Parts: sequence; C-alpha cells; structure tokens
Amino acid sequence: MVGMSQSTQAPADQAPRATENRSTTPGSDAFRQYIGSGWAERPEVLPDPRRQSEYAAARRARVSELFPGKRLIIPAGRLKQRSNDTDFPFRAHSAFAHLTGWGSDSEPGSVLVLEPTASGHEATLYFRERAARDSDEFYANPEIGEFWIGPRPSLAQVASDLGLATRGIAEVQTVLDTVDGETVVLREADSAITDEVDAARMLLWDDTDGDRDPEDHSEDDRLARDLSELRLVKDDYEVGELRAAVDATARGFDDVIADLPRITTHPRGERLVEGVFNGRARADGNTVGYDTIAASGPHACILHWTRNDGPVVPGDLILMDAGVELDSYYTADITRTFPIDGTFSETQRQIYEAVLEAADAAFAVVRPGIRFREIHATAMAVIARRTAEWGLLPVSAEEALKAENQQHRRYMVHGTSHHLGLDVHDCAQARRELYLDGVLEPGMVFTIEPGLYFQPDDLTVPERFRGIGVRIEDNILVTADGAENLSAAIPRTADDVEAWVARLSRRG
Ligand code: GLY
Ligand code: MN
Ligand code: MN
Repeated sequence: MVGMSQSTQAPADQAPRATENRSTTPGSDAFRQYIGSGWAERPEVLPDPRRQSEYAAARRARVSELFPGKRLIIPAGRLKQRSNDTDFPFRAHSAFAHLTGWGSDSEPGSVLVLEPTASGHEATLYFRERAARDSDEFYANPEIGEFWIGPRPSLAQVASDLGLATRGIAEVQTVLDTVDGETVVLREADSAITDEVDAARMLLWDDTDGDRDPEDHSEDDRLARDLSELRLVKDDYEVGELRAAVDATARGFDDVIADLPRITTHPRGERLVEGVFNGRARADGNTVGYDTIAASGPHACILHWTRNDGPVVPGDLILMDAGVELDSYYTADITRTFPIDGTFSETQRQIYEAVLEAADAAFAVVRPGIRFREIHATAMAVIARRTAEWGLLPVSAEEALKAENQQHRRYMVHGTSHHLGLDVHDCAQARRELYLDGVLEPGMVFTIEPGLYFQPDDLTVPERFRGIGVRIEDNILVTADGAENLSAAIPRTADDVEAWVARLSRRG
C-alpha cells in the first residue's frame, strides 16, 4: 500500500486521520502550483440512463404515495473504519440503492432527498462531486481524492446515468438546516445525518414550546419499515439481476468442484474453497453477498461456519453456502452439499435424501396465495417424519410437530426460507403480517433451505450420523401460477451431485 499522505483540507464531514509519522504531501506553494497545473481537459461524457433508472423512479413514486407532504432523507451511509486508516469496502444502504439504482459505484456519504411538492415529491441526489485538479482534495486526500482512489463522476454524469437531479454534498446542509416536523430520516443508514436531524428536532421542540416529542421516531421507523416492505415483490429488473447472480454463483460452484483434487491436498482446503469461489466472483467482475461458508466434515454442523480453516477430507461431505453479488448489489444465496470423493456413503445419502425431500415438498406448495410460513411448515413435516422414523425423537412426528414440542428442530434450528434481493436476508424490517404471515405474490424471491445437522457429540443420534451436516438451498421466484427454482440448474439430487463431481473433478 502506498504511504498515506496527510490531507491539508479535510472534507467538511470527515475528520482527517492523523498520520504524523508518515510522509505527507508537500505544502509548499511551488509544489501546489506545479501539481495543480498541466493536466489535460477532461471531456464531460454523459452516459445514457442505466436500465434500472426507470425502475428506481417507479419505486420512488410508490414511496412518495406512502409519505404525502413529508420530506424524506435517505442516506447511502459512509465508509466504515476497519482499522487505523483502512476501511471496509463501501456498501451503500440497500434502501438507498433501491431508490437510486446506484450500486457498487455509489459514492460514500451520498444522500437522497425526496422533497414534497404539490403533486408528490421531487428527488435530489446529493453527493461529493469530483474536485478540480488544483484542489488539495484531488492529490492530497487519500480517502476521496482521485489521485488515490480513482476517477469520480461529475454531478452531470450521475444525473444522466441515474435520471435524477444531483447537487453537491455541501448543499445537503440546507436540507439539514431546515429540518421541520414533516422531515423523516432513514435512521440506520448514516449516524452523522441522523444526529443532525435529531439535533434540529430538539431545537424545533424548544422553539415550539414542546408540542411534539423530538424522541418520537415513529415516522422514521415507518419509513424504514415501508422501504423494506417495498422490496418484498421484485420488479422485472430485479428478477433479471437475481437470475444473473444465480448463474454467476453456479460458475463459482463449478470452479470449486473442478479444483477438488488440489483442495484436498491442502491443510486448509476450506480456505481454498472460499478463495476459488470468491476468485471466480471477482474474475467475473462481481463480489460475494456474504461471507462464503466452506464447511467440510463436522464443520457443516456449524450453521455459519466462515472461519474456513479446516481440511477438505475425502470421505466427508462439504457444505458450501455462497452467493455472488453483482454490481447492482443483488445477490444469490445458494447451498450445495457434496461428497468430496464423489460418492455419498449410505448414511450420507440417507440424510441427503431426507433434506432433498423436505426441499422438494416445500417447493411444491409455493404459489401465489399461500402464506410464507406454510413453506417452512411443509419442510418441517418431512424433517419431523424422517427423524421420527430413524428413532431420533422421544415422541411421534405428529407430537413433535405441535407448537409446544418441536423436538425435531434439534436437528435443524434455523428457518427454511428468507426473502432475497439486495440483501441476502432481504426485507428484514417488513412487518410480520407481510413477511412470515404474509401471502405470496408473483415476483417474490426467497430461499428454500432445509437442512439436517447431527453434531459430532450428539448422543441422541446413532454414531454413524454424528458429524454429518447437509443443507440444500435454492433461490425461488413466485410466478403467476406457481414457482420457479432459479438455481435448479445447479445439481440437486444425490445422483446428479455425484455425476457433477465426477464430471468436473477428474483426478490425476
Ligand atoms: N447464507 C446465509 C443463509 O443461508 O441464510
Ligand atoms: Mn439463506
Ligand atoms: Mn445461504
């Protein structure tokens, strides 16, 4: 990494990070004059509007209808410090991405404002425009300067790209200075913006003799909830992106299988699984939507095993839960469990086929009009029946399935389904009556991901089951009259999985 140079002029909303011990950009007039001149003109090339811009406009129109007369502030969020002067890769808030169409090229610190008008709302996107080449920011600011982080767009370019009015970030202060009782903010996106809104509300409260409670965040909470619920049904653009994310994820799974001969020789083969999958995502121009789970042997019984530091041993199964995230931020979330040496043992196959039966049964009930929670109930009926048949439960399957019992859940403590989209666990703030108790509609996308996990030290199961974990996770689109498994092309049946490993991972 190139040594950081101290910024001579911090942006208004960011404190410079002290770098006393590091070399700094020279401050002499001679240097400033020299570095600030001699640059070629940059032609202003305005891109055509990106495809999602019209979808984002339609989403904003729906939000406008939900909040007549309210001024809505929806920040992107800021860079988050990882350690000292390094940050995590920037990821804009999903609601901001949904309403702007801006994805991995979003500018940190941006803010979308929907200003009420007589007929609805007017949207303006505030962001930090690129600085002129004779500014300190250009060459001396390692966090935002183009010399350090690469080209940044102009206001006109982003306006054309997203089909949105744009203004410089400094101007958002005029919005924050005029916060009133009708201003609503997405609180969780950017704490500095939220603090400013709260401070303004406190002043307003003093001024108006206490006629409103500045600590009442109910409208803010409604905004967060409604923006989450707005994503429950995907539009055509979103479905297309999710299909592409699933296809890209399939390529990553194939690469891992093809590399099994090398992976099994490495003492930390799980790291290689993660690296190969993530490497394929990066090579294709993408990233991953969550930390890849590469869980070999008994690690498969640890639901979110992301340490990925174990070996990948022939004879065991490996559970791989991974999803490619595209530039638009839409992500897949897929799990396959496969035999490392290419052949399921009898016990492994027995468990695998029970999980597959649960997944297939759950998929079979999906259609518009059923309740979301029926998917889980259907999968759990299979899990209860099979674990009872195998003699694992102290009661019958029927008894176990009663709400007050649930013994079978010892072997699958997680839920069967969650919505999927911009977030891997999408729409998390939606009301229960629209999510868990909600009725399925065409355009909804969610996972079906039953599993069975027999911990290595679980004395309630026969020894031959211990240390085996299986999950099969697919991404499902609700259609007009049923459902489509978007990830059906990634092998699922035990025979197809064996053939997949045999086809791709030729040894020797
Ligand atoms: N990858 C996390 C999940 O399946 O929900
Ligand atoms: Mn999932
Ligand atoms: Mn998953």
